[in-house]
Amino acid sequence: MPKRPLDHPPGTASARNVSRVSPPLPDTPTALLGNLTPAQFMRRYWQKKPLLIRNAIPDIVPPLSRDGLFELADRDDVESRLITHFRNRWQLEHGPFAPDELPPIKQRAWTLLVQGVDLHDDRARALLDRFRFVPDARLDDLMISYATDGGGVGAHFDSYDVFLLQVHGRRRWRFGAQRDLSLRPDLPLKVLQHFEPEEEWVLEPGDMLYLPPHIAHDGIAEGECMTCSIGFRAPSTQELTGQFLYHLAERGARDDSGDGARELYRDPKQPAVINPAQLPAALVERVGAILAKVSWNERDISTFLGTYLSEPKPSVVFDPPARPLTETRFIERASKNGIRLDHKSILLYDARFYFLNGEENRLAVVKKWLVELADSRFMSAKRFVTLSDDSSVTALLHEWYCAGWIQVGELA
Ligand code: SIN
Ligand code: CO
Repeated sequence: MPKRPLDHPPGTASARNVSRVSPPLPDTPTALLGNLTPAQFMRRYWQKKPLLIRNAIPDIVPPLSRDGLFELADRDDVESRLITHFRNRWQLEHGPFAPDELPPIKQRAWTLLVQGVDLHDDRARALLDRFRFVPDARLDDLMISYATDGGGVGAHFDSYDVFLLQVHGRRRWRFGAQRDLSLRPDLPLKVLQHFEPEEEWVLEPGDMLYLPPHIAHDGIAEGECMTCSIGFRAPSTQELTGQFLYHLAERGARDDSGDGARELYRDPKQPAVINPAQLPAALVERVGAILAKVSWNERDISTFLGTYLSEPKPSVVFDPPARPLTETRFIERASKNGIRLDHKSILLYDARFYFLNGEENRLAVVKKWLVELADSRFMSAKRFVTLSDDSSVTALLHEWYCAGWIQVGELA
């Protein structure tokens, strides 16, 4: 395959200094939401109906160049997919992809999807931060798709709330709230059997489309294009129930709370049988009685949600520093430069507990510094200095630094 030239889509900035962007406040109108306030958007559109926003981010700059995206797709700690629609045939391949494993950029109708770009790139993370008027607990990731002319992933629906932000080139979106969501059974990817779009718009760079879960949609590139999908997961009842029961089972295995969790099944009254394959009715009854005793409280639910929703995806690998600073040097450096959560870290909290990357920790009360760090994902040097006399805090932060969960230094 021909080598791809090293050019970038027009408008891609090369400088890496990224300024932090705060999310809009709930009652402040913002261009990002078509001059609605986040509070109005959440009330009128979130989980309810699509919204097209022209010029949501004026003068948008793609977080990554095409080549930058292709480099990410070549990494084995990054989830990527290639979808081709050549000669009217859908095909799906999973990455990583070496640059010469991707079709030539002159070829029509292919799409490269790269998940979790926010975990690896400051600009993508900064873009995602604009959407933090939605709770982090609902956040999935920022995905970037690159498509050649005619490229798309087929008409489908997602189980996600998604903001589809056009960052380069043009894409024609068609969508509708159809009831029939049956999928073509013969394909390696989710494509609707019947697609009945109700609306159609061409999105230019900076335009954005919000879609709630289960809205049928299809986006087709008009020329080379790049789209950022900021996705918010909406777990199914089946997923939540299954994962919660698993969490309860793990809890039972960890601490035998004296409620007989380790007790073995007993059947001292079992008579001899002539139908050995038949499930004994007494067994069903006894196990029913055991299951009826399974109980949980609100704390179990918060613990489950905090640990489950802060658990990094299986592909995530943290990068602990190769030669970590001693605690004293760490304090010196953090007092000059501040600290920030690593892009891969997820930190959630409630009134008494915090949840960092899938682990639950208890504090007598959740401390102000922790709330600030979790909500803003950084701590200024000045703020760090106010805590640096408390060795329990600096020891904990040093531990997080050694694990690669936080970094010294703010974004520029
Ligand atoms: C894409 O960006 O090509 C697909 C995104 C989506 O439809 O969810
Ligand atoms: Co979609």
